[in-house]
Amino acid sequence: MAFLFICIYTGAQMITLEQIPILAIPSMNDTHLEESLIINKLDVAVSNNELETIHEILHELLAHTNMHYAAEEKMMEESNFPEYYKHKKEHDRHLVELKSVINYFEINKEPRAIYAYIEGGLSAWTLHHANTMDRELALFVKESDTIK
Ligand SMILES: [Fe+2]
Repeated sequence: MAFLFICIYTGAQMITLEQIPILAIPSMNDTHLEESLIINKLDVAVSNNELETIHEILHELLAHTNMHYAAEEKMMEESNFPEYYKHKKEHDRHLVELKSVINYFEINKEPRAIYAYIEGGLSAWTLHHANTMDRELALFVKESDTIK
């Protein structure tokens, strides 16, 4: 089965620099670039069927995502961002999903599951979230002048 998987695997769509939106807060852009690099690194490990590396990168992604969302939520609180609960709900939903994917991988050790996660939602959702909710937050914070 693993041999068949290696033969048919063509790699998920990598996130390119041009796809990452440029927002009004530079630290948010840095974080989104780091996140995209981790996702692309995960994709490479999946394509090489490197189980231990996939596991390590999944935990790196989880730690980075926790840090990323905590920083955004702090910005929302400090600026009294009106869409705080709506935005935080999306962060919480995504974190639950990521943790359940990691849990599934730890039990089943199937790189295909991670491929399906990257291709089936992670990359597209990450870019969409940055381009919509994060863009709105960055503009609000910039205009409210709470982050220098
Ligand atoms: Fe966000």
